[in-house]
Amino acid sequence: MSEKPIRRIAISTGGGDCPGLNAVIRAVAYTAINSFGWEVLGIKDSFAGLIYPDQIMPLTLETVRDILPRGGTIIGTTNRGNPFKWEREKDGKKEIVDYSDRVMENFAHLGLDALIVVGGDGTMKIAQGFFEKGMPVVGVPKTIDNDLNATDVTFGFDSAVRTASEVLDKLRTTAESHHRVMVVEMMGRHCGWIALHSGIAGDAHVILIPEIPFSIDRVSEHLLDRQRRGANYSIVVVAEGAAPIGGDISAIDRSPDGTVRLGGMAQKLAPIIQERTGLETRVMIVGHVQRGGSPTEFDRILGTRYGEAAVHLIARREFGKMVALKGTAIVGVSITEAIGETKKVYPDGTLVKVARSMGICFGDAKT
Ligand code: F6P
Repeated sequence: MSEKPIRRIAISTGGGDCPGLNAVIRAVAYTAINSFGWEVLGIKDSFAGLIYPDQIMPLTLETVRDILPRGGTIIGTTNRGNPFKWEREKDGKKEIVDYSDRVMENFAHLGLDALIVVGGDGTMKIAQGFFEKGMPVVGVPKTIDNDLNATDVTFGFDSAVRTASEVLDKLRTTAESHHRVMVVEMMGRHCGWIALHSGIAGDAHVILIPEIPFSIDRVSEHLLDRQRRGANYSIVVVAEGAAPIGGDISAIDRSPDGTVRLGGMAQKLAPIIQERTGLETRVMIVGHVQRGGSPTEFDRILGTRYGEAAVHLIARREFGKMVALKGTAIVGVSITEAIGETKKVYPDGTLVKVARSMGICFGDAKT
């Protein structure tokens, strides 16, 4: 029996937004329409749009026109909606329901032949769940955190690092003028990629990342040593997921499924640093600005390459795969490989070594 031809595909964006999502959406629409003559639908707000299917947006050459440099996602996203464990309110009470069959039914009802899921590890786990239920799914790796396995880089990371580095450049002048220590918190969940890259690019003096537990004494000693050598200010970059040796991460809240919302380590550290060094210390949480704004050229090109490649994966019916960057090539890898484990900074890796050679302190014994 011959396979049903592909005529209509859809794309959804899930998890936290980031610069470059619109580049992917545009590339998918252009490639699917121009190269294959397929129809393309945008599913709004990640999988929510397949639970409530009035949330559908046709993606034509006109609707995706001019969106390449725009931040965010024109089809919306959420990092709170897992159809397998959907939280709803009934009779004034919260309950968890499994809406995955409803999503499968709506997918069929919309006459879709494939779905491109753009997201990080959480979204890819959901995508894999639907693939296992029989949905023809392909993935595109996205996250500012760069923590997704099986790809060298996720799009969004480069733009976040650009923003974070610019923040450090701006903080430097005020820190220098006031002879202060600035403790700057970067996003990244349980990985230190943004902190490490922006810290090196932004010439930080201390970088604290989750992969290298730190000692506040060592950090304080490093700051005092800088002062003794005539440096009258310092920049301390701390990843939101970093923790002191033998201590805890700083969590804002924890959801019922165990997901932790991180934040607040800079605020905890700053008064201790001030007390131990006697240096005036201020805090800056860079926050969601790292997810905002126009994508860098790198992310525009990577997002465009990913979007184009995802459509070709569908044309070759390589479902259950995710596009990935390996070296300079875009390849297809299995989604299971991507969600197997988190891609962490290697504490003995080249970049950490380079940073140490630049005199950057990580607050550990090697400092
Ligand atoms: O995964 C992207 C990210 O920005 C993380 O770096 C951060 O911990 C989290 O999302 C913040 O999530 P929210 O937008 O729910 O505050």
